[in-house]
Parts: sequence; C-alpha cells; structure tokens
Amino acid sequence: MTQPRIPLAGVIGSPIAHSRSPLLHGHWLRTYGIRGHYIPMDVHENDLERVLRTLPAMGFVGVNVTVPHKEKVMAFADQITDRAILIGAANTLIFRNAGSILADNTDGYGFIENLRSGAPDWRPEAGPALVLGAGGAARAVISSLVDAGVPEVILSNRTRLRAERLKADFGHRIRVIDWVQAGSAVKDAALVVNTTSLGMSGQPPLSVQFDGLHPGIVVTDLVYTPLETGLLAAGRKAGCTTVDGLGMLLFQAVPGFERWFGTRPEIDEATRAAALK
Ligand code: ATR
Repeated sequence: MTQPRIPLAGVIGSPIAHSRSPLLHGHWLRTYGIRGHYIPMDVHENDLERVLRTLPAMGFVGVNVTVPHKEKVMAFADQITDRAILIGAANTLIFRNAGSILADNTDGYGFIENLRSGAPDWRPEAGPALVLGAGGAARAVISSLVDAGVPEVILSNRTRLRAERLKADFGHRIRVIDWVQAGSAVKDAALVVNTTSLGMSGQPPLSVQFDGLHPGIVVTDLVYTPLETGLLAAGRKAGCTTVDGLGMLLFQAVPGFERWFGTRPEIDEATRAAALK
C-alpha cells in the first residue's frame, strides 16, 4: 500500500533567518494536527530557478517568497494571478501537477483583511487614504485599497518619481504629493498607512508631522517591530483607531496555508503569540 506523501512548504528569501513565517505555519500545522512541514530556505538569486524546478519533485506543494525574490520569481511562473500581475510581484507559489507553478500575491489581501479585522467600522468610501511610501509594499496596499473602493489615494514618497510610477500603473484615483506635504495631508484622510521602513527598530523614525490626526481617522503601520510604532502611538494619543502591522503578516499567510495543507487557518491571540515568539 502506498503511503500518502507528507506535504512540504516553506519560505524562500535571502537572508531568511529573521522570517516569522515558519513560526506561524508551524503553529497552524500543530494546531490542526497536520502531518506537514514548513521550512525556511536561504536561496541565492543564481540558484532560484533550479531550486523552484526541484522542490516539487521533493514533495513541496508550494512556497512563500520574500525579499529579494518577489519580483524575480514571476519569470518562472507558468500562471500568474491578476492581483500578482497588478502588483508586479509574488509572495505565494503553488506547485501543481508535474511541477507547474502558479504565482499569487496575497499581500494586498493580507493588508485589507487585517484592516477590516482591526478597524471593523472603517469603510473604504469614508474618504481618501494617505499612503506613505511607494516601494513594493505600497504597490500591494494601493492595489487592495483601489480594489476595495477607496475614492482617492493620496500618495507621498521621499522619491517622488517612484510615486508617479505607481500612479501611472494604478490610475486616476492616485494623487501624488511631495514628501514634505505628507503631514498637512493627514487631516484630509480617513485612513493613514505607513508602508515605509521608517519607525522600524534600527531605522530612523517617521519624521512626518501628525498634528492633523483626529478620532475619525484610522491609522495603520506595516512595521510591526515595535508593535506600537511612533505613528501608531501618535494615532492612539489623538483618539484614532489604530491597527498594527503584525496582522498583515498573519492574514497574508492564510491563502497559502489553505491551498497547501487543505485547512483554512484561524487568526486569534494564540496565532499572534506564535508569530511573536
Ligand atoms: P518595500 O518592499 O518594503 O516597500 P522598498 O521597495 O525598498 O521596500 O521601499 C521602501 C520604502 O521606504 C520606499 O518608499 C522608500 O522611499 P524611497 O522610494 O524614496 O527610497 C521608503 N524609505 C526608506 N528609507 C527612507 C527614509 N530614510 N526616508 C523616507 N523614506 C524612506
């Protein structure tokens, strides 16, 4: 009698030791009693294609992809979801029959689900969203906000040209403003999102002025080390609803886990604690 194969998944990046995904998926595998494994893999760019072609033969059902490979893996995909095409990067690969690769991006989904979970009263149509930063994370955030029906995204980035490029890709609902104007745009926003690395432990603080924050605004930060960033502390003091960035990491992992291991995982306090270990 043939034994069923033990499903394997993992995360590919370089460096990878800091990744919290193995803690998270390991927690879910244990919680649901699934005989599978989720493994961190430090893969050099030159080895990326060879590794992706080999993993399915070893029993891998898919992988997450993180920095610096999220854009590069698109070249090796046999099929790419619409949202991954729009974002221009993939964070979730699903290996199908004979090793064919489906590339998806669940970062925008993770962002919006975390926002809805942490700020249940937030409505996309409530007003403009002020997005700080125009890197890869901002692309995922903006795609999900536009998709959710936000009337306008006010986009501010240190390097204005990068913000202009995003506008070219996402269209007329994006309004680009200079980085120095970000503080004065806060009062016009229903939602403020930091997608830059500023405010992360070991990085400079976010130097934008937040005097305009008031209780009607929802404030969220993609940075989750520390859990309460300077931006979130300013929001809390101003009476805003604040949503930390750890939840985005948790929610973006849900679709991959469900596809690979066949169970849709719950996000609760135990999940948060597992990812913070
Ligand atoms: P990610 O994929 O996490 O978005 P990224 O593509 O490297 O990473 O983008 C980093 C973002 O943080 C960018 O918006 C970057 O601004 P620039 O486009 O001007 O580089 C922003 N950022 C990083 N360090 C910054 C700093 N010291 N001041 C202002 N913005 C900064």
